[in-house]
Formats: sequence, structure tokens, C-alpha cells
Amino acid sequence: MSAAINRLWDNRWAIATAAIVTFAFVLFGGLPLVLASVGFVAVCVVMLIAKAPASLPSSNTFPQPAAFEADWQRLQVIIDALPDPVVALDSTGAVLALNAQARRIAPALRQGEPISLGLRMPALIAAVRRAVATGAPQRVEFSERSRSEQWYEVHVIPAALSRPAGSPPDLLLTFHDLTQPRRIEQMRADFVANASHELRTPLAALSGFIETLRGPAQNDAGARERFLAIMHAQAERMARLIDDLLSLSRIELREHINPNTPVELLPIIHQVIDTLEPRAQERGVEILVSPAEQPLVVHGERDELIGVFENLVENAIKYGASGKRVEIRLECASVQAANGSQAKVSVRDWGPGIAPEHLPRLTERFYRVDVGQSRAEGGTGLGLALVKHILNRHGGRLSIESTPGAGSTFTVTLPLIRPVH
Ligand SMILES: Nc1ncnc2c1ncn2[C@@H]1O[C@H](COP(=O)(O)OP(=O)(O)OP(=O)(O)O)[C@@H](O)[C@H]1O
Ligand SMILES: [Mg+2]
Repeated sequence: MSAAINRLWDNRWAIATAAIVTFAFVLFGGLPLVLASVGFVAVCVVMLIAKAPASLPSSNTFPQPAAFEADWQRLQVIIDALPDPVVALDSTGAVLALNAQARRIAPALRQGEPISLGLRMPALIAAVRRAVATGAPQRVEFSERSRSEQWYEVHVIPAALSRPAGSPPDLLLTFHDLTQPRRIEQMRADFVANASHELRTPLAALSGFIETLRGPAQNDAGARERFLAIMHAQAERMARLIDDLLSLSRIELREHINPNTPVELLPIIHQVIDTLEPRAQERGVEILVSPAEQPLVVHGERDELIGVFENLVENAIKYGASGKRVEIRLECASVQAANGSQAKVSVRDWGPGIAPEHLPRLTERFYRVDVGQSRAEGGTGLGLALVKHILNRHGGRLSIESTPGAGSTFTVTLPLIRPVH
């Protein structure tokens, strides 16, 4: 019944015209009223049987005609269940429906309003227009900068969602987040560029000296000795870089496997100090240790943990030498959370410190505050990246605090095996 009323309502203008024309015939043409009434009823019956005209959808046709109500609810249920952001548009570009994921990436999108109001992306709007005009699916990529840069791939798919087939198509827009793959791709490209640059520099020095030794310095014994020493240092630098790269990839491969051998931290720290003491003395740096009240035992890979503390203490000696003092403090931090007590080892120096903008990037591969100084020290810029990956594997973490002019503190936190009472 309500469908019949709807059908009549859809044809209201045609029915009104028929009524006026019939009335005019009665009034001016002398048509008998009975005949006129029969004619008018016949027009209404034809309107009931005939197909409703397909009007152009517009934002104020929302909510949908009753015939499509059930489909409509089904569509909303389906897009709500999809993991990606999805937006349904009518052919004018007005939003018919959207899921929660779509609201998250475009909070300004509103049902019934044009998509261009909520997502000001000219490339996307152009793709929507093309899809309506051609009826063919479109694919478009766009980036959006709210807090950080986000990349999306959008498929614009024409589909009869709210209108019968044959009308201008509605559109389904599915968004696919490309930010993470883009970042990984960028990191890979940066890594290859950095690694080849780091290898090319010593290689160029080696080739240069080989040329000199074959040519002008061929018979100069003094120059030969000097050049050979430099070549040796450069070859060592290349070997160290390759070792560090191999260690990084080895640790990354095993990052999900937690070590399970109990290791005490204080003996490791003493071994690191024994190794680095000659370097510290060379620079007039004193290394002080302040042990914890009880032994700190963690699950760990001894050699990897030695690598962690060697890099932190070596950095403190290399970059903080002007402070003349490096302090290694071991303590036990009791944590209320489920992960229990933690071992904390902090390496503090009183050197020039690090400006705050560098702190979040120090554990990136090849990142150095001062590339020249790091190279002059024989550094590869991979030390803190290795530290971070090793600590990840150990369920630990690294925190860095620094005040320019007052020195830096690098703190390693690792879960203790034995809870502290
Ligand atoms: N204690 C510190 N004081 C000041 N700057 C530091 C300190 N520790 C690290 N840095 C800065 O962080 C950068 C990255 O350190 P990282 O250990 O990763 O590399 P590196 O020491 O240059 O090379 P490598 O560790 O491979 O020998 C350093 O180049 C330096 O600029
Ligand atoms: Mg280092």
C-alpha cells in the first residue's frame, strides 16, 4: 500500500497536470464530468503501473526511498565490517554513507554533504568526476599532512547502491593506507644510499693512495710507510662497517627470539671498561662505576650486551671527553607494573651534550650529530642503531637525556630475572 502511495507521490506533478487539463476540458470543452473523472482515474492507474522516472540523485534525496531501504542498511552493515576506510557517494559527490575508519581519516566528512567539503583533495575529486562521467573505476593516490604525512591509495568504483541500474552511478571509495610501505621504501632507499656512500669514501681514499704509490711516491720510502698506514686505517674502517651491517641484519633476523641465558651485568661492565680504559686514558677521561646493592641478573646474550655497553661507554669517551669523566651507574628499579623489576644501567658524561632536535633520531642507522667528527673517530653511525635492536631483542629499552653544555645520560633498562623484595 505504502509503495503505491510512494509511486503516486513520485508522479505527483504528472497527476496534477492531468487534473488541470481534465478540469479545463470540463469547463471549456463541455466534457461530461463522469467521462472526465473516468479519464483522470485512468491516468492515475497508468502512473501506478508505469516505472517511476529516474530522477538525478542529490544530497537532499537522503534518506533513501523505501524500496532501497533494506539494501541501504545492508550496505552500511557491510562497509562497517570492512577493515579499510570506505565512503559511499551518490553521483553528485554527496556522501551517502561512511564507516568509522573513514571518519577517522577524514573527520570533516558528513553524510549528505559533498565529499569536497570534508576531503579537500583535488586529485580525488577529479577521480570521482571521471568515474561518474565514464562509469569506469578509477585509482588515485594522494598524501595528506595533518600531523605527519600520510599516503593513501583510493579506488573509486561506480556501483548502483541507492539507485536502480541505468541511473547515474553511485560510487564506492575504498582507501588503502600506503604510509607504512612508503616509509619502508624510503628507509630502504636511504639505507642503500648511506651504506654505499660510507663504503665509497674509504674506497676512494684507498684508490687514491694506490695511484700515488704507483706513480709519484714510487721511490719515496717515507711516503710509502705513511700512506700504507692510512690505507690500513681505511681498510679497517670498511671492515668495521661491513661487520656492523652484518651484525645489524643478524640481530634483526633474531629480534623476535628472546635470549634465555641468565647474565649478570656488573662483570660485563667491568669487561667493557677493561677494553676501553686505554682509550679513556689517552683522552684523559676517568671512568667511574657505581654498582647496585645487589647483583643485577637479566636474561641475555652476553656478547650482544657487551656490544651495547661498549658503544655507550665508547661514545661517552669519544664525544664527551671534554667532561673528563664518565660515570656508569647500576641500579635496580622496582616497577609496580606487570613486567616486574628492572635493571637500570646509565652511562653519563659531562661533555658538550646533544641538542634536543637530534635526540629522537640518534638510533637511526647512519645518523650522526656531526658526521665529520664521527668519521674522524672512525665511527660508522651504526652503534646506537645496533644498541636499539639488541635491546628490543632483550625486552629492554634505551632512553637518552641530554642538556647541551652539561652532558648526556644514556640509560638502558632491562627486565630483571629475580624480583626485588
Ligand atoms: N655521549 C654522547 N655525547 C654527544 N653526542 C653523542 C654521544 N653519543 C652519541 N652521540 C652522537 O650520536 C651519534 C650516533 O652515535 P652512534 O654510536 O650511533 O654512531 P658513531 O659513534 O658515530 O659510530 P659507531 O658507533 O658506529 O662507531 C654520534 O655520531 C654522535 O654525534
Ligand atoms: Mg658509537
